[in-house]
Amino acid sequence: MNVLGLETSCDETGVALYSTERGLLADALHSQVDLHAVYGGVVPEIASRDHVRMLLPLIRKVMDEAGVEKPDAIAYTAGPGLVGALMVAGGMANGLGIAWGCPVIAVHHMEGHLLAPMLESEPPAFPFLALLVSGGHSMLIAVRALGDYRLLGTTLDDAVGEAFDKTAKLLGLGYPGGPALAALAEQGDELAIEFPRPMLHKPGFDFSFSGLKTAVMLEVRKAQAEGVLETRKADIAASFQRAAVDTLIARALKAAKAEGLDRIVVAGGVGANKLLRKDIAERFDGAVYYPRMEFCTDNGAMIAVAGALRLGEAAIADEIKAQPRWSLETLDVPPARQ
Ligand code: KG4
Ligand code: ZN
Repeated sequence: MNVLGLETSCDETGVALYSTERGLLADALHSQVDLHAVYGGVVPEIASRDHVRMLLPLIRKVMDEAGVEKPDAIAYTAGPGLVGALMVAGGMANGLGIAWGCPVIAVHHMEGHLLAPMLESEPPAFPFLALLVSGGHSMLIAVRALGDYRLLGTTLDDAVGEAFDKTAKLLGLGYPGGPALAALAEQGDELAIEFPRPMLHKPGFDFSFSGLKTAVMLEVRKAQAEGVLETRKADIAASFQRAAVDTLIARALKAAKAEGLDRIVVAGGVGANKLLRKDIAERFDGAVYYPRMEFCTDNGAMIAVAGALRLGEAAIADEIKAQPRWSLETLDVPPARQ
C-alpha cells in the first residue's frame, strides 16, 4: 500500500510517498524560512499562501519520482499548528481523496515526529520514552504502543526550540536561530558561563526555559555594557546550548528510569542538535533512536509513515480537520492493535 503524506502545519511544505512494503519511495520539502526571516518569526498568513503555491507542484514531483499514479491513501497533518496553514494540506488531501477515490487519514503532527524514527533501517520497538523537542513543544512521553501516549512532563513556559530561537535573536543570529546558534556554539567555550539548569532539582518531569532565557539576556546586556559582546557571543551560545542540553538529558534519563524504559526516541526540530544526539547516547544505558537529520524538523515523510501505521482508520473524505490545539494523549490505539 502506498500512502501520500502532506505536511503544512507551520513553515515547511512537506510531501512524501511511503510504501508499507518498500519503505520511503520519494519525498520533497520546501522551506519558507527566507519568507519569514525578515519578520523574525513565522507570519501565519504568508505561511498559508505559500503552502497553497507549493503543495501541488511538490505532490506532482513526488508522485513522478516514485512512478506512482495514484496512492492507496492520503495522510495529512490535521494539527496542532497554524489553522490557516493546516487547512491547506487538509483541503488538498480531501479534494484529492475524492478525485482519486482513495481514503484520507488525519494525522497528529507530534505523533508524526515521534514515529519519524520508524523510517530508519533499525526502528525502535515499543515501548519507549519519547523526548519531543521542537519550536512549539518540549515533552516527555511514555509510549507503550501506537496511540498509547502518556504525557510525563512538558514545558511550563517556552519550548526548548523557542529558547534556542530567542537566544539566537539576542545574539543577532536571525531566524530560525537553532541551527545558527548550534553552529556558533562550536567555536565557543561551554564552560565560560555557568547558566542555570532550570527545574533540575524539582520533582516531576516538567521543563522550564524562561529562567535560562533571562540569564542569557542579562549576560548579553553585561557583555554589551562592557563592549565585549562580539568576542563573547560564541561563549554565550556554547554555554546556553550546554545548559539547555543538560536539562533535557537529565529530565529524560530520570523519566526513563522512573518508567523502567530502556529505549529513548529523540524527535522534533531540536533533535537535530548534534550535542544533544551525542550526549544522550553517551549518558543513557539503553538504546537511543533518532530520525535522520532532515526528518527531525517538519517533513512529509513522518506524516506518511504515521498514516501508514494508521491505515485502518483511513476514511472517505468528508470533512477537513484542522485542529490548532490537540493533545497527543487524546489519540486512540488503532483497533487492529488493541
Ligand atoms: O519540529 P520543528 O521543525 O517545528 C516545530 O514543530 O516547531 O522544529 C523547529 C525548531 C526551531 O525552534 C529550531 O530553531 C529548532 O527546531 N532547531 C534546532 C536545531 N535545528 C532546528 N535547535 C537546536 N539545534 C539545532 N541543530
Ligand atoms: Zn514539528
